[in-house]
Amino acid sequence: MSRIYQFKYFIVLALLTAVFCLTPVTLARDFYAPDGAMYIGVDYYPEHWPEQRWAEDLRLMHEAGFNVVRVAEFTWVMLEPEEGRFTFDWLDRFLDLAQQHEIKVILGTPTASMPAWVARKYPETLAMKPDGTRSTWGGRKNNCFSDGTYRLLSERITRAMAEHFRNHPAVVGWQTDNEFGGTDCRCHHCRQSFQDWLRTKYGSLDRLNQAWGTHFWGHTVQRWDEITIPDSREGTWAIANPSASLDWMRFTSWLNVRFQGDQVRILRQVCPDHFITHNFMGLFQDMDYYDLARDLDFVSWDNYPVFATMDEPGFAYSPAMAADVMRGLKARNFWIMEQSAGPLGWGSFSRNLRPGELRQIAMQQVAHGADGMLWFRWRTCTAGREQYWHGLLGHDGKPGRRYREAAAAAGDLRKLQDALRGTTVEAPVAMIYDYDSLWALRIQPGFPENQYLANLGRYHRAFLRAGVNVDMVPPDADLSGYRLVVASSLHILPDETADRLTDYVRRGGVLLADIRTGVKDATNLAYDRTLPGRLSQVLGVEIPEYEALYKVRYRLRVEEPLQGDFEASLYADWVEPKGAEALAVYDSWPVQSYAAITRNQYESGKAWYVGTIVPDETFYDRLIGALLSDAGIQPVMTPPAGVEISVRSGEGRRLLFLINHLEKPVTVQVPLEAKSLLGETQTPGEISLPPYGATVLQLVR
Ligand code: GAL
Repeated sequence: MSRIYQFKYFIVLALLTAVFCLTPVTLARDFYAPDGAMYIGVDYYPEHWPEQRWAEDLRLMHEAGFNVVRVAEFTWVMLEPEEGRFTFDWLDRFLDLAQQHEIKVILGTPTASMPAWVARKYPETLAMKPDGTRSTWGGRKNNCFSDGTYRLLSERITRAMAEHFRNHPAVVGWQTDNEFGGTDCRCHHCRQSFQDWLRTKYGSLDRLNQAWGTHFWGHTVQRWDEITIPDSREGTWAIANPSASLDWMRFTSWLNVRFQGDQVRILRQVCPDHFITHNFMGLFQDMDYYDLARDLDFVSWDNYPVFATMDEPGFAYSPAMAADVMRGLKARNFWIMEQSAGPLGWGSFSRNLRPGELRQIAMQQVAHGADGMLWFRWRTCTAGREQYWHGLLGHDGKPGRRYREAAAAAGDLRKLQDALRGTTVEAPVAMIYDYDSLWALRIQPGFPENQYLANLGRYHRAFLRAGVNVDMVPPDADLSGYRLVVASSLHILPDETADRLTDYVRRGGVLLADIRTGVKDATNLAYDRTLPGRLSQVLGVEIPEYEALYKVRYRLRVEEPLQGDFEASLYADWVEPKGAEALAVYDSWPVQSYAAITRNQYESGKAWYVGTIVPDETFYDRLIGALLSDAGIQPVMTPPAGVEISVRSGEGRRLLFLINHLEKPVTVQVPLEAKSLLGETQTPGEISLPPYGATVLQLVR
C-alpha cells in the first residue's frame, strides 16, 4: 500500500471514528439553553390576542423568569391562508419581539388542525368514521393519516416554515404536530394501506393466515384486497379477529409515526441546529410511544394531574407513573410541554390549584426527570372550545396568584438548574411497559377489570409509597443494571422475552410476574401451553386452570413475609407450585388446594408469581417490601404517608426531592446528611413542608 494511500485510509478511518463517537452526542441535543439555563416558560397563542398586547405579555414572562414559549401549533390557516401562499409576517413580528425580550421559541408544525380550504378542496383528507361518513371539518385531529394529499400538504407547510424560520435567532426547536394518536380512520385509503403494511410485514398470505389464525370460522384470506379493517363498532373489539385487531392498532400507530417522520426529515435537513420534540400524553394508550419517540431528540409531555385528584386531592400517583413512562421512552430525561396552570376542562372545569400546588406539580415532574417546564397556557382564552382551560392569567389578562406562583416556581428551578444539569433518576427497579400487551388486553381483557395500566399501577403506587424510584422500560431493555424487575401483565410474551427474563433471574435478579402472563404470542394467538408457558420453569409453577371472579371473593391464607388478612378478587389463577413455595393459598371452596402467590428460587435469583388481584393496597405495600428485601434494595429513606421522594443523580451529585401531596403541613425526618438547595433554614435532620410543599436536598455522600 503506498504511503499516500495509507494516509487517506487513516483519514477516512479517523473521520468514521469521529462520526461514530460524536453521533450520540450531536443527536442527543442538550435540554438546556446555550447559556446553561433550563428552559422554563409557557404555551403562548399570539394569534389569540391583539398584537399590541404581545409586548406586555412577553415583558411579564421575562419578569417571571421565563425564557421560552411554544407557539403556532394551530395556526396553519394563518400561515398558509390559501394553498401555497404563505403569510409568515405576523409570526416574524412575534419572534422579533420575543427575541427582544430574551424569550426563545419552539415552533409547532400546525398540522393537528386543518384549514377549511384543505377540507373544502380535498375532502378525502378528513378521517372516515366507522359509519362510512367523513368527520366534519371544524374540530382538530380529524385528518386521515394515510391520505397522500394530507401528507404532501403537511410536508409543504413544514418545509415552508422550516425554510422561513431556520435562521431566526429566537427559534430553538420544533414540536411536531400536537398530541399524536388515532384517528382510527376507516376510509378506503387506510384499508389499502393496511393491506400493503400487512403484505410487507408477512410477505405471503400463508403467513398472514397463520399469524391471524384464520382457520377459525373459515376466515382464510385468499387475496390481499379481501382484508378489511377490523370492526370495533360496539366500542369493544369483541366481534373482530384479535390478531387482526392488534395489527390494526400497530398499523394506526405506525401511520402517525410515519407522518411525524415526514416532518422530522424536513426539519433535520433544513434546521440542523434546532431540536425536535413532540408533546406526548403520558399514559395515552393508542400509540406505541417508543416508536414515536425514536425520531425525536427528546420527549415532552402534557401533564394535567388535577384530573387524577379532582374529587379527592391526595397523592398524585398517575403523573409520577406517566413521568417514568415518558423517561423510559428514550431512556433519558424529558420536558413538560404543557403543565397544568389552573382549573381545566371543556364544558365544565375542575377544582382550582391550591396555593403551592402549581409549583408542587412542576417539582414532581422534575423529580422524575423533567428538564424543561412550560405551563399551558399563558392566558385563558376568551374564545373557542378551551375558554375554561385556565392559564396562568385569567381571561382578564392580569397577573395574579397563579402567575406569581409560577414565577416563584421558575425562580426555584433557576436555583436548582445547575445542580440538576446532568442528573437523572436513579432507579434500582425496572417495570416492563409494553404496548403489545396493553393493546392485547384492550382487545380481550379476559375479565373486564383487567386493565394494563391499573395492573401496573398497583405496583407502581406501592413503590412510590416505599420511596423507591422505578424505570419503566421496554420489553427488550437491558435489565442487567436492575436488582428487581416487575413484569406485570405480559400477556403477549414472545419466547425471546421470556428467555431474557429467565436469564435475568438465573444471573441473580429478582422478578415478579403475574396474572395472564405468557398467554399469547406476538401475533395475539394463544399458546398451546400450560400457563405460565415459557416462564413455568423460572417461576416454578403451573397453572392448569383459572377463572374470572364476579362478585365472589376468595379468602387468602397468607404466609410470611406478606402476612395479613387479604382476599382475592376479580380473577384467580389456580396455581400448582412445581418447586416454588406458596406464600398465599386460597382458603375458600373450591380452590383450597391451589396457591395464589408463590416464590421460586431459580439458580442465583428469585421469581415471584402473583395469581390474583387483592383489593387492599396494604397487600401491595407488603409485597413490594418483601421484593425489595429479596433484592437487597434499601430506599434512601422511608417517606411518611402522603409524601413522595425521588432521587436524581449524576456528575457526582445526588439530589433528594421531597414532595408533600397533602393539604396539610408535614414534618419529614431526613436521616441523611443533606443540604437544602432552595435555601430554607432547617432543623438538622428535619424538614417541614407546607401543604403541597416540595423541596430538594443535595445528599452529602
Ligand atoms: C392538550 C392539547 C392542548 C390543549 C390542552 C387543553 O391536550 O395539547 O392543545 O387542547 O390539552 O385542552
